[in-house]
Amino acid sequence: MLDKIISIALEAGEIVRDGFGKNFSIEFKTSESNLVTAIDKASEKKIIEYITKEFPSHGILAEESGEHKNTSEYLWVIDPLDGTTNFAHGLPIFSVSIGVQKKGKTVAGVVYDVMHNIMYSAELGSGAFANEAMIKVNTNSNLARALLVTGFPYNITENPENAFEKFMAMTKSSRGVRRLGSAAIDLCYVAKGVFEGFWEVYLHPWDICAGKLIVEEAGGLVTGFKGEQIDIFSNKILASNKVIHNEMIEIISRN
Ligand code: IPD
Ligand code: CA
Ligand code: CA
Repeated sequence: MLDKIISIALEAGEIVRDGFGKNFSIEFKTSESNLVTAIDKASEKKIIEYITKEFPSHGILAEESGEHKNTSEYLWVIDPLDGTTNFAHGLPIFSVSIGVQKKGKTVAGVVYDVMHNIMYSAELGSGAFANEAMIKVNTNSNLARALLVTGFPYNITENPENAFEKFMAMTKSSRGVRRLGSAAIDLCYVAKGVFEGFWEVYLHPWDICAGKLIVEEAGGLVTGFKGEQIDIFSNKILASNKVIHNEMIEIISRN
C-alpha cells in the first residue's frame, strides 16, 4: 500500500509544483489569513479520484472536502497542500500529506516536500525514510543546544492557549525556535533530527496523521502537552526526539 500512497503523493505534488508561482485563484476560509487556493483543490481532487478508483471501499477525510464515509476499516487522511500561506506568497515550503488508518490506527503515511523533492514515508513497525534513506531523531538531550519548531493557528490574534507566552519561553530556553508554516514538514524535520522538538495547538487530523507516524517510526515521541497519548483528533501536539520531551513539557506547562 505504501507504494500506492507514494505514487499518488507524487502526482499531487506535481500539480502543486506546476502551480507554484503561477496565477491561481485564492479564496478566504474563516478569515483573511486562512486561505485556500485552486491548487489545494486540484491536488485534493487528484488524490480522491485515485483512492476512489484503487480502493473504492475506503473512507476519506480530506481538508477541503471533508468526510467521504464508507464501510471499510481503512480511512485516508489527506492534506492536499500543507503550507498554503507559504504557497500563496511564493515561499517554497509546503507539502502534500497523506496518512492511512486501519481501525483508527495510522498504519502508513507520507509527507511529500514538493520543492525539495523529498518523500518522507513510514509504515507501522518498519522505520521512517526520506526518499530511500532511513531517518532517525537526534540524540541531543540538552534543551539549551536544541533547535525547535512551532506553528500558530489561524486564530492566533486571540492568543489561544497562551501560544505567544509558550513561544517566548521556548525561545529563551533553547537555541532557537523556527516557524516554517507546514506542520507536516515540521514533524518530518523532527524525525530527521534537524529539530529536537515541535509543538502546536489546534492542528487538524490531516496536518498530523502522516507526520506523527513518521516521527514515531524515526524513534521520536508524540504526545499531548502533559505527555499523554494522543490520536490525530487531539488539539495539542508535542513531538520530540524523546530525550528532550520532559523538559519541553515542563516549559509548556509553566506558560
Ligand atoms: C497549516 C500549516 C501551518 C500551521 C497551521 C496549519 P494549511 O496548514 O500546517 O504550519 O501552523 O496551523 O493550519 O492550512 O497550510 O494546510
Ligand atoms: Ca495543513
Ligand atoms: Ca492544507
